[in-house]
Amino acid sequence: MPVTLASVWMPDQHSTFAAQVDWLFYFIYWISVFFTALIAFLVVLFAWKYRQRGTNREGQHTHTHNTALEMTWTLAPTVLVLAIFLFGFRGYMNMATPPANAYDVSVTGRKWSWSFTYNSPYGMVVSDELHVPVGKPVRLVLESQDVIHSFFVPQFRAKKDVVPGRYNTVWFEATDTGHFDIYCAEYCGTRHSHMRSKVVVETPQEHDAWLRAQADPTRNPPLEAGKLAYTKYGCNACHTLDGTPSTGPSFKDLFGRTEHLADGTTVQVDEQYIHDSIMDPNKAIVAGFPSPSAMPTFQGRIHPAEVTGLITYLKSISQHYSGSIPTQWPADGGESAP
Ligand code: CUA
Repeated sequence: MPVTLASVWMPDQHSTFAAQVDWLFYFIYWISVFFTALIAFLVVLFAWKYRQRGTNREGQHTHTHNTALEMTWTLAPTVLVLAIFLFGFRGYMNMATPPANAYDVSVTGRKWSWSFTYNSPYGMVVSDELHVPVGKPVRLVLESQDVIHSFFVPQFRAKKDVVPGRYNTVWFEATDTGHFDIYCAEYCGTRHSHMRSKVVVETPQEHDAWLRAQADPTRNPPLEAGKLAYTKYGCNACHTLDGTPSTGPSFKDLFGRTEHLADGTTVQVDEQYIHDSIMDPNKAIVAGFPSPSAMPTFQGRIHPAEVTGLITYLKSISQHYSGSIPTQWPADGGESAP
């Protein structure tokens, strides 16, 4: 991109309303430049023209009223301000109204990272970079897990506050493929300046292939797939990793442990127990935890390989397990029990 006057003030334009935003910006900008120059010129001119000359201060003719002048300085600013309002209002309404066919992506802001959730035809996908198809309106539903953040993609001219306790939306349509920076534009703590990510704008075919690959948990080794599933399915909301019981038992040192169940029996936590607890949380409730279970079933929602991944993850953080942690998926792609 060559350096033009526009690129001095504004980043490159890569969304459909970038040109509209910049047009209004330069409209106001050049009005300001014009009047600043005019006023500066008149200050100098009048200072020179009406300077004191000699000792004669009497007999000068002075105007007290000039209708044409007063109409000009009233009407001209009124017209300009109305024009700014109309262009601004039209642009605001355009940016505030996502098209009905927009592609929805959920955005979560937290100290200090972004995550993006897609309801793809291949299953739910969560990523830390935003992937969108080019030439298609994208509607982002923004939420915060803690404090106020602000989602900002300068090259799209898209910015919206991300506020805890409410959903905000922002939309854009990317006009070019490529990588564009995401910033947090609201001071949110010590690592605010690190709260950055990228928008990857790709062709619809590339986007579909990306979703398909992301939805396949076996793209990562079993342990990583388990760690991802732990946050993807919200296990972290009720199962801690530090041994502290929460709404559910902590995952630390769980695998291999002997649990006392609410019905008075005991069970040693093994692969089958974890599998069954995910698919039917009411089957065996550990004594001291809510009954019926506060946990929903994940039957039909979780990929079998992710169950395998979670079991692998639990083994890796348990002192009761001393076996090996597989680094590869079995030939069937993790469909079978570990
Ligand atoms: Cu998040 Cu600043």
